[in-house]
Amino acid sequence: MITLGIETSCDDTAVALIENDGKILSNVLTSQDVFHRDFGGIVPEIASRKHAELIGYTIVEALKLAKKELKDIDLVSVTKGPGLVGSLLVGIEAAKSLSFALDKPLIGVNHLEGHIYSLFLEGAPLYQAKSVFPFLILIVSGGHTELVLMEDFLSYRVLGRTRDDAAGEAIDKFARFLGYGYPGGPIIEKLGADGNPDKYPFPGLSFKGSSYEFSFSGLKTAGIYFIQKNPDVVKSDLSSLCASFENALVKILVERTIKAAKDFNVKGIGVVGGVSANKRLRETFLSKSPIEVYFPPKQLSTDNASMIGLTGYFHYTLKNEVSPLTLDAVSRLEL
Ligand code: KG4
Ligand code: ZN
Repeated sequence: MITLGIETSCDDTAVALIENDGKILSNVLTSQDVFHRDFGGIVPEIASRKHAELIGYTIVEALKLAKKELKDIDLVSVTKGPGLVGSLLVGIEAAKSLSFALDKPLIGVNHLEGHIYSLFLEGAPLYQAKSVFPFLILIVSGGHTELVLMEDFLSYRVLGRTRDDAAGEAIDKFARFLGYGYPGGPIIEKLGADGNPDKYPFPGLSFKGSSYEFSFSGLKTAGIYFIQKNPDVVKSDLSSLCASFENALVKILVERTIKAAKDFNVKGIGVVGGVSANKRLRETFLSKSPIEVYFPPKQLSTDNASMIGLTGYFHYTLKNEVSPLTLDAVSRLEL
């Protein structure tokens, strides 16, 4: 069975072809970074216009790389939300058109759920693994930071979310105040690679206790103040400054996640979403966690259409779910 996945929730135009339960036939991503970089963030109007320009080309490229034709597609899976409405609608309309023209089922999927299935794609350590449940997932991206208990495929319980900013949002803002473009995470990672991560103290969580929630606005504000008050450090010790900020962010994520994993006696921890590409985050998890931690391959941590294809495949094959041609974009959608 061949699933065509489409992902346009943010600034990447992505199309993939997935065979059965996660074999990647093609995974094409046409990045829009260059169009948004100078604005320090994503400009929704530019994103949707670029998606409209790029989606047709990206579909053709995904088919070509997979050596497949339109008639080979059995299921069309597309991100329905959360995300930017204008961006989501471009992918959704393309998916609906394909579904209608090919007379094949359409399924709209949740982007956050998509990130979870990046752990089960070809190349990821859990590809074809069936017995990891109960499993704790940390979704950590530009728009979300949440802990999810997964008891089976397609069964989730959200334990806690961020009370304010997402981790990715905090690191993107920090990079922006240093004068760098979007996305900030990979830039801070590179700048801080050889720095001393313990040199500059940044705050952790201000609330303790049994909550599984996160907060990053305190850290973000502390980072911005530090940059404004210490131009000399920015000039002469940028590497340790970036390493210290990144380290503080990583500590919050790792400590909370390991606590929840112990409390719920899970068999494994999965870390997904754009920030899960981060080297310091990966290394800290691996050195601190007594429970096995799984990550997607780095290129599948950030937004991609393979994860959307696989999520749709599971909904269709395990639950017989399909979406109507009236499928609409949902900008705010929870797991
Ligand atoms: O999952 P994603 O691609 O899009 C959303 O669904 O938000 O995540 C994007 C976020 C951005 O905040 C970006 O700065 C961050 O992931 N990110 C990273 C790294 N690569 C992407 N953060 C830290 N280190 C990285 N290597
Ligand atoms: Zn994402």
